[in-house]
Amino acid sequence: MKEKLLQEFQKVFGRAAEGVYFAPGRVNLIGEHTDYNGGHVFPCALTIGTYAAAAKNDDKTLRFYSMNFEKLGVIETSLENMVKVAEHNWANYPKGVLQVLMDAGYPVTSGMDILYFGNIPNSSGLSSSASIEVLTAYVARELFGFEVDFVEIAKLGQKAENEFIGVNCGIMDQFAIAMGKTEHAIFLDTADLSYEYAPIRLEDAKIVIACSNKKRGLGDSKYNERRSECEAALAKLQTVKSIASLGELTEAEFEEIKSVIADPIKEKRAKHAVYENQRTIQAVKALKENDIALFGQLMIQSHDSLRDDYEVTGKELDTLVASALKQEGVIGSRMTGAGFGGCTVSIVKNECVDAFIREVGKEYLETIGYAADFYVVEAGSGPCTL
Ligand code: GLA
Repeated sequence: MKEKLLQEFQKVFGRAAEGVYFAPGRVNLIGEHTDYNGGHVFPCALTIGTYAAAAKNDDKTLRFYSMNFEKLGVIETSLENMVKVAEHNWANYPKGVLQVLMDAGYPVTSGMDILYFGNIPNSSGLSSSASIEVLTAYVARELFGFEVDFVEIAKLGQKAENEFIGVNCGIMDQFAIAMGKTEHAIFLDTADLSYEYAPIRLEDAKIVIACSNKKRGLGDSKYNERRSECEAALAKLQTVKSIASLGELTEAEFEEIKSVIADPIKEKRAKHAVYENQRTIQAVKALKENDIALFGQLMIQSHDSLRDDYEVTGKELDTLVASALKQEGVIGSRMTGAGFGGCTVSIVKNECVDAFIREVGKEYLETIGYAADFYVVEAGSGPCTL
């Protein structure tokens, strides 16, 4: 990979790169739409992700090129005047991160030429954009030699997404990517960013991702809408209980005061946030106790809640999960990421993985009319220099 990227960099920019770098993608095992509600999440970084070959240049120009979007060619922008523009497409992510880094006072003192290559499927819900963000911050840190730790990189990535891109996402994706650890998932409390690594001991099972290939489209606006619905519900609950976020409530506490929300839709959204947070805490406990069956049951409940109360699944993801649950050797299955398209994550017994991919693939194609893609994945580590 390193050689290939170095050669490609030489070809595109006509000079040598200073280094080759990597940042992973992520999959969330449980704890969905809880990260902007002060709740817990349980994602892991993947071994697939985004690579970059990069070098500083002598002017104040940033030149970005992606081997995944060859047709867009080299995207150029001045370091001194960075704004989000539609035709810069994917390059708005690295632009946003560099702007946020500079705003925070990190010395990005010259332009850079950066070539990217990602092996995460685009718009799949495996966080290809957060991977680019974290990678870009890491590249700048390495090339300019300033100090910034990985938690800070995660926060800067989220800030870029919120302020530059305009998606009001939580911290989960950038945190999972920046702080990834091989064979572990990260149990993160988004209320205070305390976290703990939990080994993924699935023994005789594997993590299988099914990508619906439904592009998200309206997803980003729906995402912001869900977030506001939760905020509105929280504001109502705060009139009767002193809480800072939905993540502070147990199920019983929520049931006791929920009527104050006085809006059935917002009540459902808040219910999901509260119950999903408690499920996540329970799921991590189950995993630690080697109770994979319970972990799987909680994944299934998570999907049901995302479908019925949070309403972010859709026909494609529901078909994948319903079909998964019909197969032999499936311990759990749910949508992962923001929803509205993207992927599901399933835990499948080793000997059943081939049949799972074949059968779910067949049913999906018959029901939806186009194919899903499947990936058997492993938990990988955070950003690194190759
Ligand atoms: C997206 C966001 C995350 C998180 C998930 C849903 O991936 O970027 O912050 O909110 O959706 O859990």
